[in-house]
Amino acid sequence: MSVERLVLGLETSCDETAAAVVRGGYEVRSSVVASQDDLHAEYRGVVPEIAGRAHAERVLPVARAAVERAGVELGDIEAVAVGHRPGLIGCLLVGVSAAKALAWGLGVPVVGVDHVRAHLHAGLMRLPGEAEAGRGAAEFPALGLVISGGHTSLYRLDSATGITRIGGTIDDAVGEAYDKVATLLGVPFPGGPRVDALAQAGEARWALPVSRLGAGSLDFSFSGLKTAVRYLVQGVPGSEEPVPALDEARRRDLAASFQRAAVAALTLKLERALEAHGDVRTLLVGGGVSANSRVRSELARLAAERGLSLRLPALALCVDNAAMIAGLGHELLASRGWRGDGLDLTATPTTAS
Ligand code: KG4
Ligand code: ZN
Repeated sequence: MSVERLVLGLETSCDETAAAVVRGGYEVRSSVVASQDDLHAEYRGVVPEIAGRAHAERVLPVARAAVERAGVELGDIEAVAVGHRPGLIGCLLVGVSAAKALAWGLGVPVVGVDHVRAHLHAGLMRLPGEAEAGRGAAEFPALGLVISGGHTSLYRLDSATGITRIGGTIDDAVGEAYDKVATLLGVPFPGGPRVDALAQAGEARWALPVSRLGAGSLDFSFSGLKTAVRYLVQGVPGSEEPVPALDEARRRDLAASFQRAAVAALTLKLERALEAHGDVRTLLVGGGVSANSRVRSELARLAAERGLSLRLPALALCVDNAAMIAGLGHELLASRGWRGDGLDLTATPTTAS
């Protein structure tokens, strides 16, 4: 029995319709992402009904494109993996229904994959043409950090599929804080990459709050940091003190100060987690914010200091994609002797605990 199977992944949990073909859990043969940014931009956020309808129109053409770009036939696909939680229920249902129909039609297993956990697998995936070094299976145990617009979660991994959540945000996700600060600074949604660019040109003049929470806590909080930026931009409520104009130089310095504090909050909790989990050998990081320049440089520093192997996704796989779904789906199926989830697989809006 071959252990390197060809898996078609589907991802429709939010506002990206994505499909990918992956061989053996790590080798990306194709990854197609149809963004809906244009459909939601005027609402400054994702409208669930619009997203669900767009997924229904796009999911099969996107899946067909992924199969074609992989240079294979639909009949070559040996399993179908789908992001079935968490996400917008009307969006997840489109992907789950399409995946079940394809798997049933092809006579292959279907497997439901947790979208947030799949972000941890993205750093292991090798894109077409990418050097082999630094990609492929990780050494375990590992610490995993998912940093995106919807999630900021910390995990311990004892294998690719043995994943335990050990911490998470108690309020905003870090990407959400980036997007809110972007709005305060007057840069368009989604603002994370633009705040990152401003920060690189600025000077971190303000020592903004880095949430610690209780001693030993592995949870995160970003609402205090966001409020601190708001006070610097709009003034402290009830205060008579005049607020300096938000010119380009102040905007850059505020972005740099925010970015320094936000990334310090992430590394602080990773350091605490490493104290508690001294046997960890690898650091797995994923999600949209793992594209951030300071996140990448600070994590590289931390990993080098601790002698850890750092597995950061290629930039194309930081954001939502189906390659990570197919990759983790392959490992889940391999761990279960290729027994699929069955056609009663359901979509669930929340993640596993
Ligand atoms: O993983 P993702 O595509 O979607 C979710 O599942 O949430 O992450 C999107 C988030 C947004 O909040 C976006 O502003 C943020 O990732 N982001 C960044 C950067 N690139 C994307 N945040 C900071 N710096 C970046 N370079
Ligand atoms: Zn995501």
